[in-house]
Amino acid sequence: MIIKNGTLITSDKTFQADLLIVDEKIARVDANLDAPGHQVLDASGKLILPGGVDPHTHFDLPMFGTVSSDDHYTGTKAAAFGGTTTVIDFVSLDFPTLSESVKAWREKSAKAAVDYAAHMNLTRFDEQIAAEIARLPEQGIASLKVFTAYNNRLRLDDGSIFRALRIAKDLGMLVLLHAENGDVIETLTAEALAAGRAEPIWHARTRPAWGAVEATLRACALAAQADAPIYIVHMNAAGEVDMLRYARERGVRAMGETCPQYLFFTEDDLMRPDGAKWICSPPVRSAADNARLWQGLTDGTLQTVGTDHCPFFFDGTKPILYEGKPVAIPGKELGRGDFTKIPNGLPGVQDRLPVLWTAGVGSGRLTPQQFVALTSTNPAKIFGLYPRKGALLPGSDADIVLWDPNKKVRYGVALSHQRTDYNLYEGWELTGYPEKVFLRGRLIVDGEKWLGGAGQGQFLPRQTSGEFL
Ligand code: URP
Ligand code: ZN
Ligand code: ZN
Repeated sequence: MIIKNGTLITSDKTFQADLLIVDEKIARVDANLDAPGHQVLDASGKLILPGGVDPHTHFDLPMFGTVSSDDHYTGTKAAAFGGTTTVIDFVSLDFPTLSESVKAWREKSAKAAVDYAAHMNLTRFDEQIAAEIARLPEQGIASLKVFTAYNNRLRLDDGSIFRALRIAKDLGMLVLLHAENGDVIETLTAEALAAGRAEPIWHARTRPAWGAVEATLRACALAAQADAPIYIVHMNAAGEVDMLRYARERGVRAMGETCPQYLFFTEDDLMRPDGAKWICSPPVRSAADNARLWQGLTDGTLQTVGTDHCPFFFDGTKPILYEGKPVAIPGKELGRGDFTKIPNGLPGVQDRLPVLWTAGVGSGRLTPQQFVALTSTNPAKIFGLYPRKGALLPGSDADIVLWDPNKKVRYGVALSHQRTDYNLYEGWELTGYPEKVFLRGRLIVDGEKWLGGAGQGQFLPRQTSGEFL
């Protein structure tokens, strides 16, 4: 197939060119391509972007006595409708060994509808686990996520994080870090519950921004002392961006990701009658934090926008129709009357590109090149998928989004394929939307038509020694 007359947007330039796709790959990118016998798609007036790469999803994740409501099929189908053709999901350390945990995740994720890779959650650390990390790259996994919060559940102590950083560095792996202060959260949560403070806003008030700021600097300092790179996930507070900048200016190989929810929402949303919809960890903060995160995106302190997609129903007692069948999965209602029982997490895998385009590119805050860098090229480079993913180069996978920059939609659940009963951007007027989405040369989304299927996604074994940006 040849895609003609489109405007290509990459992380470094915007230019007119035609694309020749042969089988699953981009074969040529050139002006006035002519290849008789090929099907021609006229992309006049449209933009052509590399498929989005979402570096942070949690599909089918058991939590709080329920499970995140998108599995690897429904979540990746939603991703495709939003222009994302690669996701990086997390393997939970649910079994005695890392390999058994990877095996279980590989079985669950085989139904993905777009290409997918994995990070390993390192939520236990002992000599056996330390020795086993070296076997992850041969299983295609080149990153570890560690936590400074969730005491007695997911958290590692600083000594274990330091050792993990050194092991990862020797293997060319990258450590991702969830930055909050677990001890302070435990104390504040116990106090809030004892005082009868049970509303959703107390989720944020018991997880103060200072804890995230301190843990971000601590993470960067541990990385500096281990001489290892580090990537701070879901950055949410202004001070975190300041700490990341401080570390980067001193030569620490620290990188940062934020997510749309931290750019748009605040504690005021948690105070709404349906505030549970906005409960995620770390929490959404203030307008000043939103503004500093935007600045971090524009000045290059932050490298990626992921989603941390981890949806739950707002009311999981009432079924929705998904692909024509009723589905209800217990969700946020589990914590009615006790914020500590509200499953943590938000939908977003489909929303990411359309809302960021309107609020970022449409407002002039981001250039189209920055948009592509933050949502596709940079995650591909950092996580060892480039140039197969995140690029419009000869030899890259033909993961292509035909983007209509003039299309106006009123966004919300009616347009969303995320398997939940609400959308954070309900009623938002968006300008700019995916029109066609190709996965390895195959048209999988055509307007509102789903042409893809479960299991068509390929597992992507990642290279170690991803780039430091
Ligand atoms: O609330 C969230 N973000 N749930 C997902 C788990 C995590 O820490 O990323
Ligand atoms: Zn996290
Ligand atoms: Zn997450």
